[in-house]
Amino acid sequence: MTTIQTQIIDGKRIAAQLRAEVKARAAVLDFKPGLAVVLVGENPASKVYVSHKIKACEEAGFDSQMVRLEASAAQTALLAEIANLNANPAIHGILVQLPLPSHMDAQAVIAAIHPNKDVDGFHVANAGALMTGSPRLVPCTPLGVMRLLEASGVALRGAHAVVLGASNIVGKPQALLLQAAGATVTICNSKTRDLAAHLAMADIVVAAIGKPEFIQGTMLKPGAVVVDVGINRRADGTLCGDVDTASCMGIASAVTPVPGGVGPMTIALLLENTLKAASF
Ligand code: GUN
Repeated sequence: MTTIQTQIIDGKRIAAQLRAEVKARAAVLDFKPGLAVVLVGENPASKVYVSHKIKACEEAGFDSQMVRLEASAAQTALLAEIANLNANPAIHGILVQLPLPSHMDAQAVIAAIHPNKDVDGFHVANAGALMTGSPRLVPCTPLGVMRLLEASGVALRGAHAVVLGASNIVGKPQALLLQAAGATVTICNSKTRDLAAHLAMADIVVAAIGKPEFIQGTMLKPGAVVVDVGINRRADGTLCGDVDTASCMGIASAVTPVPGGVGPMTIALLLENTLKAASF
C-alpha cells in the first residue's frame, strides 16, 4: 500500500505574497485606498478580527477608519453612518463586521452599503453578479479559498467538491466559485441525511460549519484536499478548525491548518477587494 504524503497548505505564506502584491499595486496610485470598518458592540472575536483588518490596511499603505457604535445603538444610527461613508470619496470600501446585535437586520444594513464599496461582497447586487457569472466584489473568505487551491495546484475542472455549510458569507459563494471553476459541487447542511456518503465521494472538501474538529480523516476519500474555514475553540480554550487535521495526515493529499490557513487569506482578499473598489 502506498502512503500519502499530506501537504500542509501554508496560508500565511500565500497571503503574505498577495499582500505584498497588493501593497505594490497601491503604491503606484496617486491616492491611498481607504477602508472603513464598522464594529457594533463588544463581541470579543469581532474586536480581534477588526483589529487585524485595520492593521493589515496600515501595512499595505491603505487609509483605514474604524467606526464604533454601542451594542444598544439604533439601526437608524448605523444606517446614518453608512450613508456618510457612502458619500465620502476618500472611503472606497465599507465593511460592517458581522454578527450584528439581534435587534438589527443584517440584510437591511448590508443593502444600505453602496455596491461599489461593498468589499465583503455581501450586497444582493454583488451576490447576484457572482451567481449570474459576472462577479464584481466577491466575498473574501471563499475567494481566499480559491486562491489557496490555485496556489497549491489543485485541479478543479471535473472534480467533485463538497461544501459543508450554506451561509451567505462562505458556503453559498464558495459553491458558486467552485462551480464556475468547473467543479461538480454538493452543498451539505446540518440536515443532510448521509453526510458520510457525500464526504466519501469528495475530491475537495471545504468545511465551514463551526463544529470543532468535526471532520475526521476516516471520513475522507484518500487523496482528498481539505480546506478548513472553521475557527473554533476547544474546551481548553485553544484554537481549532472544523477539521481534525492530525487525523487527516496520510489520508488527505493536502490540508489547510488552523490557524495559518484560510484566516490570513480572508484579510489579504479584503485588501485586494478594497484596491479593486478603489478602481471603480
Ligand atoms: N464575520 C465573520 N466573517 C465575516 C466577514 O467575512 N465579513 C464580515 N463583515 N463579518 C464577518
